[in-house]
Amino acid sequence: HRKYKATPTVALSDRQWPNNTIDSAPKWCSVDLRDGNQALVEPMTVEQKLRMWDLLVKLGFKEIEVGFPSASQPDFDFVRALIDGNRIPDDVTVQILVQAREELIARSYEALEGAKRAIIHVYNSTSPVQRERVFGMDKAGIKDIGVQGARWVREYAEKYPNTQWSFQYSPESFSSTEVEYATEVCDAVIEEWRSTGNPIIINLPATVECASPNVFADQVEWFCRNVKHREDIVVSLHTHNDRGCAVAAAELGVMAGADRIEGTLLGNGERTGNMDIVTMAMNLYSQGVDPMLDLSGMDEIIAVAEYCTKIPLHPRHPYAGDLVFTAFSGSHQDAIRKCLSKQGDDEHWQVAYLPIDPADLGRSYEAVIRINSQSGKGGVTWVLENDYGLNLPRWMQIDASRKVQAQAEAISGEVSPQQIWELFESSYLKP
Ligand code: KIV
Ligand code: ZN
Repeated sequence: HRKYKATPTVALSDRQWPNNTIDSAPKWCSVDLRDGNQALVEPMTVEQKLRMWDLLVKLGFKEIEVGFPSASQPDFDFVRALIDGNRIPDDVTVQILVQAREELIARSYEALEGAKRAIIHVYNSTSPVQRERVFGMDKAGIKDIGVQGARWVREYAEKYPNTQWSFQYSPESFSSTEVEYATEVCDAVIEEWRSTGNPIIINLPATVECASPNVFADQVEWFCRNVKHREDIVVSLHTHNDRGCAVAAAELGVMAGADRIEGTLLGNGERTGNMDIVTMAMNLYSQGVDPMLDLSGMDEIIAVAEYCTKIPLHPRHPYAGDLVFTAFSGSHQDAIRKCLSKQGDDEHWQVAYLPIDPADLGRSYEAVIRINSQSGKGGVTWVLENDYGLNLPRWMQIDASRKVQAQAEAISGEVSPQQIWELFESSYLKP
């Protein structure tokens, strides 16, 4: 462990975020088609990208990063397919990523020609390890890259006056950069763009998640308090999941002052993935906050994500996995059964072991209870009552569940409702 050192914390003696909650959804930006795509073994084809695009639009995303068209021909072709095929709704803005290099910026504008609105997203890395070991440049040199990038974006925007341009700048590896220096770089970049009067987004990435979410939130709060012209900029976050805390970091970052969150559906993205927008949005939803995304068709979201990424969803993935609304243990099944029978339509959700109503994601109660050797009489009774309309006396509930449990033990697996019925029939109904 002595190989590693702790990330320095930001001096913020009067931090405010622990007292806050999130009471409205941040602006969302999906980076499925860019960060998600660049991490795939087989990057998406144009056809797969169009499928993902249609889903993202249907879910309600208003800002979507569509690729890196100056670096990839399929990304270029995809952006053209969106614009030439009139597939961008009036209230949706496309965003493209580009490095601060003039020829790449020029090519990005070619890709976007004819778009009604677009965000040009420039990034360069600012952390000490990137400055010293990757680029061999000092702080002033790294700052100049960002400023020059903003200048080119501004100059090229003037050549395409029919599009409403926004500019986004990311000090890549922000969370590993001295926060005072990262803020100084952003101040200079903002100054370069401000004269246009067009919107600017400053996106703060935890490119690699190296510290705990509270440390990231302190960095965000420090930035929001100290950056110049705070009222004129949108502060966006882009967290990765290396420590398994990308959602927590994004949530605390919003409490710390950020306005906008970048992430992907179900957390696809570089290495351990980007922040999972499904989880964060459903976290808000389950606290009574409208996430401003429609996630009621979870099965379709999973099907499209799996089709485009070729990565199967883990069965215990928060909110979406196959097993997350399933109870095998008898006491859990019994508690769920009792709570569901008492749950009124107009009251707040109060069902033990089910943090939200599966129906809100397009799932049904029938799938909730599954029977194996861990199950008790509650689950077996539930299946016989709900699937077969039986109302059993208590002695029979106990007896039937013992028989089902014995069968589950014998096969070391799950007993289906059909098998439970057959066992019931042969035990009590057939002579
Ligand atoms: O993770 C990252 O820093 C990025 C940037 C390009 C925003 O993906
Ligand atoms: Zn990223």
